Amino acid sequence: MTSTHDDSGLGPAIVLLHGFPFNRSMWLEQINFLSAHGYRVVAPDLRGLGENVAQTSVGESASEDHRLRSVPLATMDDMARDVAALMDRLKIDRATICGLSMGCYVAFEFIYLFPGRVDALVLCGPRAQGPDEEEKKSREAQALRVLAEGMQFSVSSISTNLLAQKTLTEKPEVVVRVSDMVLQTDPRGAAAAQRGMAARRDYSDELANITVPTLIIAGREDGVRKPEDAEFIHAGIRGSQLVTIDDAGHLMNMEQPERFNRELLMFLHTVSEARP
Ligand code: MLT
Repeated sequence: MTSTHDDSGLGPAIVLLHGFPFNRSMWLEQINFLSAHGYRVVAPDLRGLGENVAQTSVGESASEDHRLRSVPLATMDDMARDVAALMDRLKIDRATICGLSMGCYVAFEFIYLFPGRVDALVLCGPRAQGPDEEEKKSREAQALRVLAEGMQFSVSSISTNLLAQKTLTEKPEVVVRVSDMVLQTDPRGAAAAQRGMAARRDYSDELANITVPTLIIAGREDGVRKPEDAEFIHAGIRGSQLVTIDDAGHLMNMEQPERFNRELLMFLHTVSEARP
């Protein structure tokens, strides 16, 4: 049976929530590093993505029209509840929740739904604001396009938006890993997640309610998130820390894993020290 999550190491738990349209393999360097440093690292494939495609599958024999109409939503709320159910199955009561981009929307839902289960938050490339009409329309258009054409067209955004210049010129292996992840994504899962992100709430007013230690990580060359997005969240969550990583874009944990892991570990140590 294929697994839809990784669970490595022993110690305080950290749950890693991937971005879109990716899967849990984007956290490989963090899983290896943190599990070797005394943490239990859990990384799920979020609903409809990676190997977790069962919830959005529609029979291959269905007509194209049927396939287009029958793709469900994979909401951020669904995904957060899936994460809580996985933690239940793994007998993890509380964890540090670390998300990247879409994973941050899921993290915001998770702390809203299950505040007592969060030791700390790590928000990488996050945005708190909800979608406006233009964003909703654009996401629906992308969902339809991906259903009609598959994932290929999404690969072009890697060089235009997702990765820093240095990654593109000096780290071809990262570029290949990212494009492989995108191409392996089930178009129905991608469409369901796009529609889920279009249906997400605005988390801006909830930032002030977040009282757990929070680290925000931004990539200096992120073409998807503006620096103001991270600064807005930093200003909204009292006591939060903001770190910006040079020579990194939207996938800063894959582009600059050493720096990213160092920042994450330092933060996790401060969280452990503060624990009663
Ligand atoms: C992601 O990396 O998860 C996406 O950029 C999220 C989004 O489309 O808002």
